[in-house]
Amino acid sequence: MMIARTLDELHAAREALGPVGFVPTMGALHEGHLALVAAAKAAGKPVAASIFVNPTQFGPKDDFARYPRDEAGDLAKLEKAGCDLVWLPGVEVMYPAHGATTIHVNGPAVHWEGASRPGHFAGVATVVAKLFGQVRPEAAYFGEKDWQQVQVVSRMVADLHLPVRIVPVPTVREVTGLAMSSRNAYLTADERKAAPVLHAALRHAAREILAGKEVAEILHQARHEVASGGMVPDYIALVHAETLEPIAALAHPARLIAAAKLGHVRLLDNIPVG
Ligand code: PAJ
Repeated sequence: MMIARTLDELHAAREALGPVGFVPTMGALHEGHLALVAAAKAAGKPVAASIFVNPTQFGPKDDFARYPRDEAGDLAKLEKAGCDLVWLPGVEVMYPAHGATTIHVNGPAVHWEGASRPGHFAGVATVVAKLFGQVRPEAAYFGEKDWQQVQVVSRMVADLHLPVRIVPVPTVREVTGLAMSSRNAYLTADERKAAPVLHAALRHAAREILAGKEVAEILHQARHEVASGGMVPDYIALVHAETLEPIAALAHPARLIAAAKLGHVRLLDNIPVG
């Protein structure tokens, strides 16, 4: 496995590899990230991953400083997963002193995470565009766990005609249903027991929607279930799967999306409906 820490090292490695599949990450890797590597490998091309905890996608109240970091552990996991190249840019490479260009996002970036975390998706889009320019992948793999992120990135790639194919990969879950996340490391033992309620509430809501019950009533009930599990729901919504606009009745393609605070941890989840 090649490791690149400078642009020169990255470009040399890219020359050697030819077309690659790409998995961008912020590290603290778990089975969810490794499923993206496995999906990229299954496509038959060499796989490049990046680890960069991107400061511009964290808000002032977010956890940038204490975001989990474990470079040695991450590299061992990527090596074992058969990754061919790891790109480890420093913040000075990603955000040079005289940098003056960022990506402005609208459409699928406006609601939900976009509303709760102002500037978050502009930071994501900007760093992902930079990573695409650096790594120049043929395809890039993103987790459905962050459904809105996949739509924001797909929209950016279409709007800017970037020569990369976005491949969504299904969410990897614990046996309890809890979506795997680097932030789950912050949960206490009791919180871990409560956390699967979020996914259970979404599944329950999806069944009710398919049974034809009234959507507003179902979402109200889901919020109640999540709150009863000791969480503070931020949003639970039925949305158009690509535009992320809320919808009042089942239409296609639809997605149930949710965010809730459990202690200090913000949990995200989403599932398809129908
Ligand atoms: P990070 O949170 O490290 O996630 C990296 C990728 O792993 C994302 O595409 C995310 O959706 C995916 N992922 C996380 N948990 C998953 C799970 N349980 N199942 C499947 N995929 C999962 O998302 C980011 O980093 C950043 O915003 C990034 C795109 C790297 C830009 O900084």
